[in-house]
Amino acid sequence: MNQISFLKISSVLKKIIIAVTGLSLFLFLIIHLLGNITLFTGNPPGKDFNQYAHFLESFGILFTIAELGLLGFFLLHISTALYSNFINTSARVNRYAVSSFAGGKSKKTYASQSMVITGVVIMIFLIWHVLQFRLGIYYDTTYLDFNNGQPIRDLYKNVTEEFTNLWVVAGYTVAMTLLSLHLGHGFWSSFQSLGIYGKSFTRITYSISYLLGTIISIGFLFIPIYIYSIN
Ligand code: HEM
Repeated sequence: MNQISFLKISSVLKKIIIAVTGLSLFLFLIIHLLGNITLFTGNPPGKDFNQYAHFLESFGILFTIAELGLLGFFLLHISTALYSNFINTSARVNRYAVSSFAGGKSKKTYASQSMVITGVVIMIFLIWHVLQFRLGIYYDTTYLDFNNGQPIRDLYKNVTEEFTNLWVVAGYTVAMTLLSLHLGHGFWSSFQSLGIYGKSFTRITYSISYLLGTIISIGFLFIPIYIYSIN
């Protein structure tokens, strides 16, 4: 195999890795958002959310394996994307004198051009987010009709306390705005990378991609803004 065909294969492989891990993380986000709806249900407030989190943790080692798998997907997605960007940038020996956005049918947009920047900011957000909640303050609570009256983690208290801080809400607002751009471009372009395209298929995925990205981001952003506004 000559060097050119090897480079082509490895570039296709990188795109496939970014697309498959990206679509899987997209699915995780939808499940995570649906799970977070329990923040608004339950009596007393927080009961459903805490029981849901406890239910997931009750899977023990299986839950830990799922978490490690998720971490692996995040790391693979980020590292492959950054490496791919590094290779592409260094291969472009003669930088363009002018960088402009192509018109007409081109799919070159601000979102597509800023994937690395939005991705890096989301990565920083994620480290903060996991420290805040997954590894955050451990409060206990007891529901007499659940877990035989044994205490479970009061994650609801942790979440609602965090979202009474305006700076935290502002940070989430910035992160969710960039997330909508990242998802908007990432979703439809993943199908292109996997070779799944066609005139009408691409038109549909392109149109719903930004819509889905916006709905998911607004869904997440609603949580801190609502909790802040009622406190
Ligand atoms: C404002 C909306 C959000 C809320 C209220 C929220 C809430 C939470 C909570 C409470 C946990 C800890 C779960 C547990 O310990 O069982 C968690 C974990 C996590 N969240 Fe979020 N989240 C939000 C948005 C996001 C977004 C936008 C992302 C990704 C871009 C994300 C990614 C994660 C990840 C990766 C974990 C760790 C999962 C695990 O290890 O089990 N979250 N989130």
